[in-house]
Amino acid sequence: MGVCMGACSSNHKYDSYGVRRLQSRLRFRYQILDGRRYQNLDNSVYWLPVDDIEAERSLNNHLFHKRIWNGNFHAPITERLRAGGRDVRVLDIGCGPGAWILEMAKFFPNVKFIGIDVSTTFSTENIPPNVRFIECNILDGLPIADASMDFVFQRFITHGLNEIQFKEQIIPEMIRVMKPGGWIEFTEGDCYQSKDGIVTKRLAAGIRKFLKFRGINGLIARELPGICRKTGQFGQVFYDSRTIRLGLQGGEIGEIALRIIYEGMKGGRIPIAAYLNIMPEHYDALTETMLIEAEKGETTWDIHKCYAQKKLDDA
Ligand SMILES: C[S@@+](CC[C@H](N)C(=O)[O-])C[C@H]1O[C@@H](n2cnc3c(N)ncnc32)[C@H](O)[C@@H]1O
Repeated sequence: MGVCMGACSSNHKYDSYGVRRLQSRLRFRYQILDGRRYQNLDNSVYWLPVDDIEAERSLNNHLFHKRIWNGNFHAPITERLRAGGRDVRVLDIGCGPGAWILEMAKFFPNVKFIGIDVSTTFSTENIPPNVRFIECNILDGLPIADASMDFVFQRFITHGLNEIQFKEQIIPEMIRVMKPGGWIEFTEGDCYQSKDGIVTKRLAAGIRKFLKFRGINGLIARELPGICRKTGQFGQVFYDSRTIRLGLQGGEIGEIALRIIYEGMKGGRIPIAAYLNIMPEHYDALTETMLIEAEKGETTWDIHKCYAQKKLDDA
């Protein structure tokens, strides 16, 4: 089925959450650049900051998604989660501060929720009894038992993952930990907007090069249904999308979306400016102009959702 990377060895002991205790702590995980905290991992190309400012953006992102998708998930798994039970489990990969998990855990108190992230921006206090947050670099494999999860969720991380690692390591790991008949759900946005203004187009061309250099496919979100089908592991694959008009023209939701993009671009200030060989102040001027162009123009942003059911063993 793909790469297991040691996480699925039958020698390991798993707790009732399906989680294996991690032996070693991650070393040299962060670096500070111009006052922002970034990942510093040998095998990761993730470029957004992982600090409190980014956690705030992530919380806004959560509220934004809830509104545009009219809820927290689309996979038809509500009944299973409502019924709950000792072995009903949900995993969020790259959970950030954990807003999705914490809300879901309240709705479904009889389900076990596990959030995984390498950057510990999730809360460590007052966590509901049915939630576990785990510090883990997903590129080292998931410390999760085979076929233990009813629902595996992932939102807004492909913009920071190398395409090959995503397809050849992360997706096979997500599939490995799913129960047969379990559901997977991806929610990802394009890294570029459409109908951009002149300066935004120039900036987008630079960002495209920056992502390509890191092996990141900024438009992978729209390919997710095809990627899922190609694994041969899913019976049903569903797709949905939203086109958001950014800025004033898009009303309140357009303003929120534009703010999420703008704050994300500010977060990429140091690595992107360094790659483009421009001064950070020049990059600032470009992002400010992007904001103005999007406020006045017709810029739109496409966001994609793909959800699929893992085949039953005998299917
Ligand atoms: C933009 S945030 C999205 C957070 C959350 N899923 C949401 O929708 O609000 C992406 C998250 O992926 C995490 N991430 C990136 N690379 C990772 C890795 N190799 N292992 C674990 N988490 C990773 C980052 O730390 C960050 O919290």
